[in-house]
Amino acid sequence: MKYFPMLLFCSSLLLIIESSTAIDTINTTQLVREGDTIVSAGGTYELGFFSPGKSKNRYLGIWYSKISVQTAVWVANRETPLNDSSGVILRLTNQGILVLLNRSGSLIWSSNISRPAKNPVAQLLDSGNLVVKEEGDDNLENSLWQSFEHPGDTFMPDMKQGRNRITGMDWYMTSWKSPDDPSRGNITYILVPYGYPEILVMEDSRVKYRSGPWNGMRFSGTPHLKPNPVYTFGFVFNDKEIFYRYHLLNSSKLWRVVASQNGDITNFVWVDKTQSWLLYGTANTDNCERYSLCGANGICSISNSPVCDCLNGFVPKIKKTGMQWIGQVAVLERFL
Ligand SMILES: *[C@@H]1O[C@H](CO)[C@@H](O)[C@H](O)[C@H]1NC(C)=O
Ligand SMILES: *[C@@H]1O[C@H](CO)[C@@H](O)[C@H](O)[C@H]1NC(C)=O
Ligand SMILES: *[C@@H]1O[C@H](CO)[C@@H](O)[C@H](O)[C@H]1NC(C)=O
Ligand SMILES: *[C@@H]1O[C@H](CO)[C@@H](O)[C@H](O)[C@H]1NC(C)=O
Ligand SMILES: *[C@@H]1O[C@H](CO)[C@@H](O)[C@H](O)[C@H]1NC(C)=O
Ligand SMILES: *[C@@H]1O[C@H](CO)[C@@H](O)[C@H](O)[C@H]1NC(C)=O
Repeated sequence: MKYFPMLLFCSSLLLIIESSTAIDTINTTQLVREGDTIVSAGGTYELGFFSPGKSKNRYLGIWYSKISVQTAVWVANRETPLNDSSGVILRLTNQGILVLLNRSGSLIWSSNISRPAKNPVAQLLDSGNLVVKEEGDDNLENSLWQSFEHPGDTFMPDMKQGRNRITGMDWYMTSWKSPDDPSRGNITYILVPYGYPEILVMEDSRVKYRSGPWNGMRFSGTPHLKPNPVYTFGFVFNDKEIFYRYHLLNSSKLWRVVASQNGDITNFVWVDKTQSWLLYGTANTDNCERYSLCGANGICSISNSPVCDCLNGFVPKIKKTGMQWIGQVAVLERFL
């Protein structure tokens, strides 16, 4: 019989979830401990404790369940690592708050709620969204809390990037400090939700890239954002919210957009054949929107590849390559 220290401070009503049976939902009487995982119904995503890269710290996070390369898409306690997760528990309170407690019962991380719950459960959906909701109420609009509304560095399919205009809450991505440290780095990938809405990549408070405003079809500086066989995308603006999101046409594909430490917004697709992530492209909006990309006496044309050219009478000092997005889509189609 193992020693379960949490029983010292949790009521005897609490159950230990069976790690052998995959469940996608916990209620207020079930615990998640080191070694336990919650798996989404279709088996795509898994929630549990992990250590990123070379780190020995433990984090509560969500990763892809079916692939061999550990890839976290969300981290709960990114600012408060555990140096040891034995005796750590995740549980759902009767009010509907997820709490992560260490062995001595100190609060390491918690979710929060807009209103108290009656009969809350926490479910890991097949979109990778961890949702706290009233049991039986599957309408996401009614949820009490969603991990998709507290993004880390990964912009997932069907996630919203923008602002809840009622609560004023912004949904945006921040890079990790390093592959071993998921705490907030200095790159922010955010939608500016006023004026002419556009997406900015910021390094601290400096704008690194801008998408240009939404023109009804796409962001004006993102010529690569075109109807394509892989995903659809759209911009929503109404009284309640303003956001950008994309949707995979084949939901079985694994696809992620990451705000990386160097400030690139990278798109990855999982390729079964090679059992690895393919860097599909770097969506730094239009290269011409990149500040002073072409340098002095340079002209930038998004329809050219490479995008930079010189003004008449000048010759290039460095050759830069532009992104050929449409070519990439063709490559991708061959891969998938
Ligand atoms: C939580 O789920 C377990 C397993 O399905 C069940 O035995 C228990 O009664 C449930 N508790 C509540 C409060 O619904
Ligand atoms: C983990 O942290 C606790 C409390 O800060 C400390 O007592 C313990 O030595 C640490 N363990 C390791 C392995 O660093
Ligand atoms: C639990 O967290 C508290 C607060 O961070 C810390 O003081 C304590 O040492 C931790 N306990 C263990 C066993 O890590
Ligand atoms: C909790 O909610 C408040 C108000 O809705 C918000 O300002 C705050 O950022 C939230 N905190 C977390 C950790 O989500
Ligand atoms: C942002 O972080 C990266 C790596 O973590 C570092 O190289 C860069 O200098 C930082 N930028 C600023 C403006 O501090
Ligand atoms: C969707 O993707 C899966 C996994 O790559 C593949 O097996 C399936 O054939 C695809 N479906 C369509 C309609 O392309």
